[in-house]
Amino acid sequence: MENILTVKNLVMKFKNKAVLKNIDLTVKKGEIIFIIGPSGCGKSTFLRCLNRLLIPTRGEIIFEGQDLKAKKTNINLIRQKMGMVFQSYNLFPHLTVLENLTLAPLKLHLMTKEEANTKAIDLLKSIALENKKKVYPNSLSGGEKQRIAIIRSMMIEPSLLLFDEPTSALDPAMVKEVTSLMESLGEKGMTMIIVSHEMNFVKEFATRVLFMKNGKILEEGTPKEIFNNPKCEDLKNFLSK
Ligand SMILES: Nc1ncnc2c1ncn2[C@@H]1O[C@H](COP(=O)(O)OP(=O)(O)OP(=O)(O)O)[C@@H](O)[C@H]1O
Ligand SMILES: [Mg+2]
Repeated sequence: MENILTVKNLVMKFKNKAVLKNIDLTVKKGEIIFIIGPSGCGKSTFLRCLNRLLIPTRGEIIFEGQDLKAKKTNINLIRQKMGMVFQSYNLFPHLTVLENLTLAPLKLHLMTKEEANTKAIDLLKSIALENKKKVYPNSLSGGEKQRIAIIRSMMIEPSLLLFDEPTSALDPAMVKEVTSLMESLGEKGMTMIIVSHEMNFVKEFATRVLFMKNGKILEEGTPKEIFNNPKCEDLKNFLSK
């Protein structure tokens, strides 16, 4: 499979403190990569560098053949192809579900209003929430909000989805509805990079797991390798907690 993302020697410093220390990563189309590691090790910072919410201090990020640093690269086009889903949903409270879904494609002039509405309704049907199209986010459950945030990122047909702890704000009963939706995207071939503390989800769904500590990827492997046969002490300690 072809490479969709290549990260070389990525360094991110805040003030003078290095938070990402020479990260290298190659992601192939269709991979489902999980990043695990202790709080503060740099997982969110890494995702934010990938879609340029943060400008890395050093290093290279090549996404679908385009160098994110290059002057001619249009970062808005990159963000259309690289969706991001956050822990806290980030739906606009003053817009209905349908308006939340159609906002980006309309603003970016990617679709007519009719096309955007049709697509939004199709996606809502796929998660059995068509009846919520006219309500505002504050009347939805956490699981519903997060599933709508996920299908919102699908509106503009991204080729890579980034997730930062998508289930950690949810009641346990709602975790499954969100992980099921993510699994169905995976089955359709969506490439994903997911930060998660939900170890059962990682075990079942990852094609590859990266263990980060202190701004570095210390170990990587299949879920079997990482969970059944961890090599470094830091990973063994992390998993035993
Ligand atoms: N804007 C910022 N300015 C200064 N330091 C920051 C900034 N953002 C993050 N940091 C620091 O960078 C380090 C990594 O933070 P990051 O949020 O990436 O960790 P994380 O692995 O996502 O942790 P968690 O599991 O708690 O979400 C932390 O020490 C954090 O305090
Ligand atoms: Mg984080």
